[in-house]
Amino acid sequence: MNQQPTSRYDSFSLFLHWSTAVVVTIAFILGPGGFGRLMRQGVDPATRSDIVWHESLGMLVLALTVLRLAWMALRPAAPQFQLSGWMHWSAKLVRIALWVLLFALPVTAFMALGSEGHPLTLLGGVRIDRMPFIAESRVAGLADWGDVHQFLGDAIMWLAGLHAIAAIFHHVVLKDGVLMAMLPRRKSR
Ligand code: HEM
Repeated sequence: MNQQPTSRYDSFSLFLHWSTAVVVTIAFILGPGGFGRLMRQGVDPATRSDIVWHESLGMLVLALTVLRLAWMALRPAAPQFQLSGWMHWSAKLVRIALWVLLFALPVTAFMALGSEGHPLTLLGGVRIDRMPFIAESRVAGLADWGDVHQFLGDAIMWLAGLHAIAAIFHHVVLKDGVLMAMLPRRKSR
């Protein structure tokens, strides 16, 4: 693998980053409001396209996140930027929080479904009716996992927004190439 200093991420890293951003945003928009009420009314979630799409896109985010983590261990050297003290630490903190949320969202969704006995319903008719290992676990009753999931869903959008504002600040004010590192290279004519 190439370990030379570089100013850009490789194209597969770009694909994983931007597809995650788009899919998380669509999953957030399709977040099934009133899920608990629908379940109490006996609605089968498989008949609700917002729920099926939300859960399928959420699972796709999980797959992209696992792939991204694996790719980080294998990919060519990533660009390195010298940032001042507080910028370095705040950027690092936001990045760690985004990683934690990308894993915590599916985990809390499974906790919500499993602890309340609702099925996981995905595109293509994929369905898991029961998750006994969650329902019977001690953590199932520790929280309203649907509320926790909803809170984390809002939090990831706020943090992603902050992350995007910081990237624009780097581009417009600091002009240091941080944003360009995550954009596709323009074809030279
Ligand atoms: C990218 C990741 C995800 C984001 C940003 C996200 C975001 C959200 C948000 C904001 C809500 C609340 C919607 C509202 O009340 O208006 C929600 C609810 C829900 N999400 Fe997700 N979600 C993600 C992944 C998942 C996954 C992977 C699943 C299933 C495996 C899932 C299943 C659910 C369910 C069942 C609810 C309803 C929870 C309840 O009210 O009890 N989500 N999600």
